[in-house]
Amino acid sequence: MIQQVLEAPESRSFGSSSRSDIFLLIKEMLAYILCTALAVLPLLIYFRNPYFLKDLHCTFLSIYVGIRLSRIEKKFYSILDRFLDKVAEHPHKKFIVYEESSYTYSQADRESNKVARALLTHAHLKEGDTVALFLGNEPWFVWIWLALSKLGCTASFLNVNIRSKSLLHCFSCCEAKVLITGADLQGAIEEVLPTLKQQGIRVFILREHCHVDGIESLSDKIQMESDEPLSRQLRASINIKSPAVYIYTSGTTGLPKAAVLKHERVWMGSFLLTFVGVRSDDVIYIYLPLYHSAAFLMGLCGAIERGSTVVLRSKFSASNFWNDCRKYNVTVIQYIGEVMRYLCNTPKRDNDKDHKVRLAVGNGIREDTWVEFLERFGNICIRECYGATEGNVGFFNYGGKVGAVGREHFLYKMACKYALIRFDTEKEDAVLPFKLLFKHILLLLLAGETGLLVAKIGKRTPFSGYAKHKQQTDKKKLRDVFKKGDVYFNSGDLLKIDDEGFIFFQDRIGDTFRWKGENVATTEVADHLLAVDFVEEANVYGVKVPGHEGRIGMAALKLKENMDFDGKAFYQHVKNYLPSYARPRFVRIQDALVVTSTFKQMKVKLAEEGFNPALIKDPLFYLEDNKGYIPMTQEIFNCIAEGRLRL
Ligand SMILES: *[C@@H]1O[C@H](CO)[C@@H](O)[C@H](O)[C@H]1NC(C)=O
Repeated sequence: MIQQVLEAPESRSFGSSSRSDIFLLIKEMLAYILCTALAVLPLLIYFRNPYFLKDLHCTFLSIYVGIRLSRIEKKFYSILDRFLDKVAEHPHKKFIVYEESSYTYSQADRESNKVARALLTHAHLKEGDTVALFLGNEPWFVWIWLALSKLGCTASFLNVNIRSKSLLHCFSCCEAKVLITGADLQGAIEEVLPTLKQQGIRVFILREHCHVDGIESLSDKIQMESDEPLSRQLRASINIKSPAVYIYTSGTTGLPKAAVLKHERVWMGSFLLTFVGVRSDDVIYIYLPLYHSAAFLMGLCGAIERGSTVVLRSKFSASNFWNDCRKYNVTVIQYIGEVMRYLCNTPKRDNDKDHKVRLAVGNGIREDTWVEFLERFGNICIRECYGATEGNVGFFNYGGKVGAVGREHFLYKMACKYALIRFDTEKEDAVLPFKLLFKHILLLLLAGETGLLVAKIGKRTPFSGYAKHKQQTDKKKLRDVFKKGDVYFNSGDLLKIDDEGFIFFQDRIGDTFRWKGENVATTEVADHLLAVDFVEEANVYGVKVPGHEGRIGMAALKLKENMDFDGKAFYQHVKNYLPSYARPRFVRIQDALVVTSTFKQMKVKLAEEGFNPALIKDPLFYLEDNKGYIPMTQEIFNCIAEGRLRL
C-alpha cells in the first residue's frame, strides 16, 4: 500500500500530457502560496500585535484556571486539600525554609496536626469559630493557619504593628473568642489584656510557660499532642462560600476593616503565581508580612497551589536580600515598589548578577526603578500586578511593558465586567454614566484617558465586604452605574488603558493613600489628631514626594482659638498612637479647612499643592526623624526635592 502511494506521483509525471502538467504547476503554485501565507501569517499578526504569543499563552492559562475553578466549585476543594494532596505527592520536599531550619511538606502537615489537637483540647474550638492570630512571619504562622483550616475555623490575621485602641478594634471586628500571639508580642497584648479579660477572650501565647494571669502558654501544650491526621468530619460543612480568612485593610474610612476572604477568593489569589508561570520546582522568597494578602494569598497559598518551596523571612533586609537568594537558591521573589528601589539604592557589588532569581511578582514599581533593576540585577522577568485584598478585580502585566500594572485580555473581560468611568476631581466624586443625559458620549473614555476603575459585582466576581461593617461595605458599592439596579465595586483607583491594551495605575482617590507598602486611612489618622488639645479640625491626605513611590502623609489643621501649634506635644501624640508609616510628615496650619460643594473635606487640591514653602503661604511644619515637628524651610524642601533627604 505504502509502496503504491509513493510510486503514484512518479508514474504520473512520466506518463502525463502537457495539459495536466500545467494543472500540476498551478496546483504546486497554489500550494506554495498557501504555505508561504501560513508561514507569514504569524509574522503579520506579530507585527500588528507583538504580544500575540503572550496573549495566546495567557488564553491557554485562563482556560486551564477556568476549568480548575469550575471543578473546585462543583466539588468543594480548599487550599488545605491542595496542601494535603501535595503532602501525599511529595512528602519529603521542602515546604518552608526559615533561618537555619527547613521543614518538609510532611513535617508541616504533622506540626499543624499537633497545633490543631492542642487547640481542640484546650481552646475547645469547633467548626465555624474565628481565631485571631497576632503573629509575625515565622513557621508557626503557617502551622497555626493550617491547623485552624483543619478544624474548619476562620483565621483572622492582625497586623503586628497595631496597638491599643486599634488592636482592640481589629480584634472585635471578627468576633473571635480566642487570640493566639507570639512571644515577642506579649507586651502589646498585656496593654489590652484588661479589656480582653472583661470580654472573656482566651489568650494563648507561643511560649512554654507564661505567668501572666489571663495569658496561657501554648507551645508546651502543642508538644504534648500527637501528630496523627485529624478527621475531615471536623470541617464537613465548610464550603466555597465560607469565610476562609479575615485580612485587614485600611479601606475608605475609619479604623482598619476586616475584609472577608471566602474560599473562592483565596483560590483566585492563589492562581496568580500559576498565571505568571511559577512551577513546582521554584523557590519563592517571602519577606512581606503574611498578615497581608500579597504574601499570604499570592505568596503562601500560591506556593501551595504550585507545590513549591517557600523561603520565609521575618522581614525585609536590603543588605541580606541577595545573599539569601544565593544561599537558598531562590528563583521567584515578591516585591513592592519601595523594596525594589531600596535594592537599587544599595552599593553596587561585583556579584549583583550572581543569583538564580528568574521572576519577580509584585506591585508598585516605578518605571525608572524597573529599568535600573533589570540593568543591575540581570535578566529577571518582572510581572507587575494590580488588585486589592477585598476587591473583585485584578490585573497582571503579562506583556511586560515597563510601567504597566496589567494587560487587558478578552477572556478576562468576559469573566469580569470592569470599566473605567469618569471621575470629577472638583467634586471628588464618580460620575455615574447612568445619571447622565448624554451617557453614551460621556461614558466612553478614550484610550489613554484616566478613569475610576469599577467592577460589576456578580456571581463570578463577588465582593464579600468587611466583617461587621455594613456601612463601610455599602460605601464601596456603586449603584446604577450603567443601568438601573446594577452594582459595581468601587476600587477607589484611577487607571488608564493605552491603545495597546496595557493598564497603568495613575492614582488613588478618596480616603486612603499608600506609603511604604501600607494603606493609610486618612480619617483614622485625622481621628487621632483631633485628640490633641489644640487641634480643632484635621484634614489628612497624601502628597507625592519626588523619587518615592506612593504618597506621604500630610495634615492640614485648624487650631482652636488663641492656641498655637506645639510641635513637641503633637509629635508625642502622633508617636504614641500612629505607626510610623501613618504619621503626617508635613503639617499645614490653615485658618479654615476647605470643603467641597458637598461638604466633604477637599483633599485633591491640597495634595496637589504639596509642601513647598515657596508656594504655600500657610505655616508649614516638617517631622524630623525621631525628633519632632520643626518649621518647614526652603532648605529642607530642596533637600527632599533633590533626593538628599530620603523620607
Ligand atoms: C543550591 O543549588 C546548588 C547547585 O545546584 C546546590 O549544590 C545547593 O545544595 C543548593 N542549595 C540549597 C540550599 O538547596
